[in-house]
Amino acid sequence: MKKTSNKIVLVGSGAVGTSFLYSSISQGIAEEYGIIDLNNDISKGNELDLEDSFPSIQNNAIVKSGGYELVSDADIVVITAGRPQKPGETRLEMVSDNAKIMKSIAKEIKSNGFKGVTIIASNPVDVMTTVYQEVTKFDAKKVISSSCSLDTARLRMELSKAFDVSPSEFSAFVLGEHGDSSVSTLEFASIKGIPLSSYYKDKGLTPKKLEELHERVWKKAYEIIDRKRATFYGVGSALADISKSILRDEKRVFATGALLSGEYGQKGVYAGIPSVLGKEGIITTYEFPLSKKEKAQFIKSVSTLKTATKKALDAIK
Ligand code: 2OP
Repeated sequence: MKKTSNKIVLVGSGAVGTSFLYSSISQGIAEEYGIIDLNNDISKGNELDLEDSFPSIQNNAIVKSGGYELVSDADIVVITAGRPQKPGETRLEMVSDNAKIMKSIAKEIKSNGFKGVTIIASNPVDVMTTVYQEVTKFDAKKVISSSCSLDTARLRMELSKAFDVSPSEFSAFVLGEHGDSSVSTLEFASIKGIPLSSYYKDKGLTPKKLEELHERVWKKAYEIIDRKRATFYGVGSALADISKSILRDEKRVFATGALLSGEYGQKGVYAGIPSVLGKEGIITTYEFPLSKKEKAQFIKSVSTLKTATKKALDAIK
């Protein structure tokens, strides 16, 4: 019988994973959800807790915890598993530990016959996505890193505060590595095509202030982790929005990570790049215009990712 419902399976039911599920369930994005976690009590507990939200949000979805057999008929698998980032630790410092975890998850997902689109949020996310794609050999178009989707939300929030315009109106991205070496595309950013650069002066956004704005964007995770030990609502919402664009074939543009194949002259690793997301995964990528300085920063960010990816691949040999 032809399957008619959409199914999302989560691997790793910590705070990021469950924030994603809660956001997704609240928006009615899928009809079926699976939860896999090394700790069966945690995944069963989350199943029971989440199903209690159904009567209030009038959702007829199904949530089931279990093993990797759950992925065999899933449309999307979202991976958030990995060890948490300690206060003060960078994402890249977790590379070897999380590469080993990612390799074992990738093997389980492949051997259980998964055929859909994978979205990865485990950090360092662009590197972990390259590891997953290398291990599974899945079509790279169906393997997506959450990458700079969250950083882009943070940038749009900063611009929203500076311009007093809704964050959704800004055409501006964060590209490259999700994290410290990321690039904010401020030179050619716009409000629906209206160039922001013509208004920076009026808003008191001197080059120094713009640098500070970018610094607030890439340092925001550290501030949140220092204050409450983890970040989860922002990335959980981004994952739900990405899943929605894929399941409903909306073809919206996200700064998710794709395996670079010549964008800005770079290839071989996953990095944040404007990507159109639909039913088949990454339909296409686009190059957002960058100033000379931003392009140099992007190339440097990709080179950081290449070094970290080599370390990750060495760790799983
Ligand atoms: C974030 O940026 C820690 O990668 C996580 O919120």
